[in-house]
Amino acid sequence: MQIVILNDAAEVAAYGADIFSTQLQRKAESVLGLATGSTPVALYQELIRRNREGELSFKDATTFNLDEYLGLEGSHPQSYRHFMNEQLFNHIDIDIDNTHVPPGDAKNPITACQDYEARMAAAGGVDIQLLGIGRNGHIGFNEPSSGLTSRTRVKTLTKETIEDNARFFEEGEYQPHLSITMGIGTILDAKKVVLLATGENKADAIQAMVEGPLTASCPASALQLHKDAVIVIDLLAASKLK
Ligand code: F6R
Repeated sequence: MQIVILNDAAEVAAYGADIFSTQLQRKAESVLGLATGSTPVALYQELIRRNREGELSFKDATTFNLDEYLGLEGSHPQSYRHFMNEQLFNHIDIDIDNTHVPPGDAKNPITACQDYEARMAAAGGVDIQLLGIGRNGHIGFNEPSSGLTSRTRVKTLTKETIEDNARFFEEGEYQPHLSITMGIGTILDAKKVVLLATGENKADAIQAMVEGPLTASCPASALQLHKDAVIVIDLLAASKLK
C-alpha cells in the first residue's frame, strides 16, 4: 500500500483527480471503477471542471460502479445510478451507455450479479477502482465478515451503515437494507485501486486497514494484498496512524 497524507479534503480531491486524469490521458478507453458517497463528490467536481476545460475526455471510457441499493430503481433520487448521473455523468462527455451501475430493480438479483461480473470481464477488467471507506472498514457494501475473495453479490447492510446513510433519506422514507455490491475479490482484481478518506470519523477505519491484521472484520484490510493500492487521506483521517 502506498499511503499519501495530505493537509485537507481539497488536497485529497485534487490528488485523486490527478490520478484519474493521468489514467485517462494514458489510456482513453480506460475502464473506471467508481464509488458514491460524500467523499468522491469533490473529486468528481474537479474531473467535471477538467473535462469542461478540455484537459481530459471520458468519450472512450467505460465505468462500473461498486454498488447499488437493492429495491430502488435507477430513477429513484436515492439510487446510486441517480447519484452518479447527477454528480458526474450528466456533466461530462461520457457515453451514458458505457456507464454501469448494478441494477437495483433486477427481477433476478442473483443473475444480475453474475451478469455484472461478466460485463466487467468483457470490458477487459477495471483499470482503476475508486473507493471510499465506511467507519466500520467496509469497501463497496462489503460489510465486516465479508469473504475476502467474494464476487458481486447481494449483501445485507449493517445497522451502522444504515444509520450512516439515513442522512440521505427523508424521515419516514423507505430505506433499503439490501444492496448489490462488487465483492472484495472483484475489487482486488482492479489493476489499480485508489481509496480516498477524509475526516476524523474515518481515523479508526484507516488505522485498522493500514496497521491492523488482514481480516474480514475490516474488509478494507484486504487492500494490503493489492500490489497497486494508493490510500489518499487527510491529516484527520491519518490521525490514528502510529
Ligand atoms: C459507495 C460505497 C461506500 C462508501 C463508504 C464511505 O459506493 O461503496 O463504501 O465509499 O460508505 O462513504 P462516504 O464517502 O459517504 O463516507
